[in-house]
Amino acid sequence: MKKKVLVLTGGGDCPGLNAVIRGIVKRAAQTTDWEVIGSKEAYNGVLSNPQEIVTLDNRAVAGIHVIGGTIIGTTNKGGPFNWAVQQPDGSWKNEDRSAELVKRLQELNVEAIISIGGDGSQRISQQLVEKGLKIVGVPKTIDNDLSATDFTFGFQTAVQIASDAFDKLVTTAASHHRVMILEVMGREAGWIALHTAMSGGAEVCLIPEIPYNIQKIAEKVNSRYNNGKGFVNIVIAEGAKPQGGGISGMKSTEVGYENLRLAGAAYRLSAELKAVGCKADIRETVLGHIQRGGSPSAFDRVLATQFGVKAFEMVLAGEFGRMVTYKNNNISTVTLQEAVSNYNFVDVNSYIVKAARGVGISFGD
Ligand code: F6P
Repeated sequence: MKKKVLVLTGGGDCPGLNAVIRGIVKRAAQTTDWEVIGSKEAYNGVLSNPQEIVTLDNRAVAGIHVIGGTIIGTTNKGGPFNWAVQQPDGSWKNEDRSAELVKRLQELNVEAIISIGGDGSQRISQQLVEKGLKIVGVPKTIDNDLSATDFTFGFQTAVQIASDAFDKLVTTAASHHRVMILEVMGREAGWIALHTAMSGGAEVCLIPEIPYNIQKIAEKVNSRYNNGKGFVNIVIAEGAKPQGGGISGMKSTEVGYENLRLAGAAYRLSAELKAVGCKADIRETVLGHIQRGGSPSAFDRVLATQFGVKAFEMVLAGEFGRMVTYKNNNISTVTLQEAVSNYNFVDVNSYIVKAARGVGISFGD
């Protein structure tokens, strides 16, 4: 009987997930003693009744590296340690189903697991490793906010999508002499905003790491207008905040969804500019989940494929409790503990921020 490796994707989706799955499956098919199965929507496929487990072979993954999303689905709600269960009074309570998960995996004869996900998924993996499971992690996030890896797949694709949107806003801003505000993803790290601002040539870039002063932004905007003629393009990360203020968002009513749903940063900035006397017409564009959809860029396909192949080779080598990384142009590995210990914030003293200031981009500080 062949040994089974279970693959799952957790957290928000991200272009390149399918390329990782394909890399794992194709490399595993070169062995004689391993087969790959997938759990639908992270661990839900194992924990649900009936279970949703799919066979992942060369036929199942043919050509999927160019397709966005994930063929095995994903979820960013709950997890084995926080499983929402409806109570008789209609309310929801989180239950720990991790012991049951371990038992079900044994019954399925799962030898090893490859978990593809962001910091939340890697934290769950670390807890499960402590319960004896053999897990290899693959980092995923369009936000590029995991410090153990220089880049995560999906990030470059998201930047390209945002940059294309930015270019389109420039021509309409110039035609109407408007201030255009483009809101991009970036919950706690402003990588997408920073790269988009530099790639597109923004006048203002607002990121969570640098709380902004509205007066400074107004000064920059006004400096671009002469007799009412001029235009300004601003990129703002969804998690950006004014000095002394908080992030703009709302609590979700979705069962099991713990994150604050970020929304409103661009509209808030627009209102703040008006409140300090900005006379220019302002329009807001919120790019949202368009940044997470569609075909991964060539770079992300290549990175994701390497991650997939390496993850399976880590299974072969018995390198469990570790996550594959891309550091200094090398595919390498770190412990899951290291993987989640530091967040990858934009370093405000880094050269890319200096270079952005060097081409006149204001961070509103
Ligand atoms: O973490 C990635 C991310 O894209 C964040 O930038 C964003 O706030 C969040 O996911 C939105 O996730 P969803 O709407 O899918 O829950």
